[in-house]
Amino acid sequence: MTDKKILIITGSPRNDGNTALLAGWFAQGAMSSGAEIETVKAGALKYKVPGCSSCRACQKLEKYECVIDDGAGPVLKRMAEVDAIVMATPLYFFSASAQIKVIFDRMFSLYKWDNGSGTMETPLKGKTLAVLASAYEDVGFDALEKPFILTAEYTGMKYKSLVIPNAGVSGDIVKLPGVREKVVEFGKAVCKE
Ligand SMILES: Cc1cc2nc3c(=O)[nH]c(=O)nc-3n(C[C@H](O)[C@H](O)[C@H](O)COP(=O)(O)O)c2cc1C
Repeated sequence: MTDKKILIITGSPRNDGNTALLAGWFAQGAMSSGAEIETVKAGALKYKVPGCSSCRACQKLEKYECVIDDGAGPVLKRMAEVDAIVMATPLYFFSASAQIKVIFDRMFSLYKWDNGSGTMETPLKGKTLAVLASAYEDVGFDALEKPFILTAEYTGMKYKSLVIPNAGVSGDIVKLPGVREKVVEFGKAVCKE
């Protein structure tokens, strides 16, 4: 059993779609291993800015916090506290959805660069970054995953992923044999990281 805390960020606009199902199955698996799960729908967050505004004011703070007081704040705070962050997203034009990209960019405030020494510090180091994605076809998951893989490498996070191709349109994923079990197992595997 684990005492891990896992934050799932879902990036689909659909409440009843494939991403929601994947996130639910993942949570089942992780909770059966003892993990504590929090799920945030990225598209429901209320932002004052459309993405990272590149003000860089966060770089002057002691804390790893965004200076913009909006819906991203509590999510970024939890990211720095949990053991694993799961980005659950549909493949949108060979990429993660825009909802995921916005919160991913707002994570800028969780990194602090020292340009003099060329170093970067982050409370995310050692945590797990997982991607859980689905698509109608089976083309482009490599493109979707690349930014997450590189960011995990860059920040010292462990990377894990599970991608489900040929998932159909929203809700169709339930018809794919064995997927639910695979995702439940993935939830358990992330707990073992
Ligand atoms: C705006 C948009 C773009 C999409 N782009 C792709 C794509 O590039 N490749 C693909 O295979 N499926 C694409 N899809 C299909 C979704 O990725 C797929 O149906 C996914 O499982 C839907 O998840 P959801 O029900 O959680 O929204 C797209 C769907 C939408 C609405």
